[in-house]
Amino acid sequence: MQYETIGVIGAGIMGQGVSFQLAKFNYKVILVDISDDKLREARESIRNIARFDLLMQRQKKSPSGISADPTENIRYTTDIGEVADAQLVVENIPEKIGVKEQLYEQLRDIVTAGTLVAVNTSATPVTRLSAFLKEPSHVLGIHFVNPVHLMPTVEMVKGFFTSEQTIDNATQFLATMHMQAVLVNDSPGFVSNRVMLMYINEAIFCIQENIATARDVDKIFRGCLSHSMGPLETADLIGLDTILYSIEVLYNEFNDDKYRPAYLLKQMVSAGLLGKKTGEGFYKY
Ligand code: NAI
Repeated sequence: MQYETIGVIGAGIMGQGVSFQLAKFNYKVILVDISDDKLREARESIRNIARFDLLMQRQKKSPSGISADPTENIRYTTDIGEVADAQLVVENIPEKIGVKEQLYEQLRDIVTAGTLVAVNTSATPVTRLSAFLKEPSHVLGIHFVNPVHLMPTVEMVKGFFTSEQTIDNATQFLATMHMQAVLVNDSPGFVSNRVMLMYINEAIFCIQENIATARDVDKIFRGCLSHSMGPLETADLIGLDTILYSIEVLYNEFNDDKYRPAYLLKQMVSAGLLGKKTGEGFYKY
């Protein structure tokens, strides 16, 4: 399967990262969002990622087949209908099942036959979304990691309907960008987030209960457990809204109290302290 044009839906943190990575490897990207303001912000952020990436390339040997100016390969639009031109669609909209379901219902009559659809999600079961499309066997989860251009390994999720051919096609496609996948079966949060969201949530409970400061919790993870980032700086990087919505997906899907989100997390999201993207979360930026 040859991929030339890729539709990227959602121009937030992940949509920007995915679009840059695709454009860098010469794919034509159609980046769609419902908000013109978000598209303007995305254009600016992608320019910054490109500048930073160029500096990094000067310091090490660049991979083959990369674009001299990736920003030229991206088209920005609020018209979801334009993804009909794509052979592959990567969806990156917020981790709210109802919102994602509405989009997949819309996509049912937009994506053309044979198009591969990759759900970039932190927690939502892929099977549930694939059921909205005419070809659920062409749908899989690709859980990219932020920042996308620096994290070459992704979690690939095989939904109930996903065919072996789809897994092969997606694996080969990722290899063209020097990326590889670890394949797992569909389940809320898959492996990475089922585990990671729990330790982030528990770390937030430690702050809420005044056991330690955010800085000290992160220091323990870095210094005593050799993590390269602590749980609270990770939460700020991901976005506290995305963390909360993802934990809520686990809570609702498993019907298990062990996934109840910390109240402090809910309060911070209500206050608009979403982490790096808003300039303040557990830390100030
Ligand atoms: P974000 O909140 O930064 O961006 C979401 C974007 O989607 C916004 O620009 C919003 O305007 C747009 N949007 C909302 N509804 C839309 C629609 N119907 N059509 C088109 N655009 C729409 O969210 P973020 O962080 O980029 O997350 C996106 C997805 O990726 C979520 O499912 C999240 O769980 C997942 N994810 C996030 C990671 C992270 O580190 N932030 C890592 C891996 C996956």
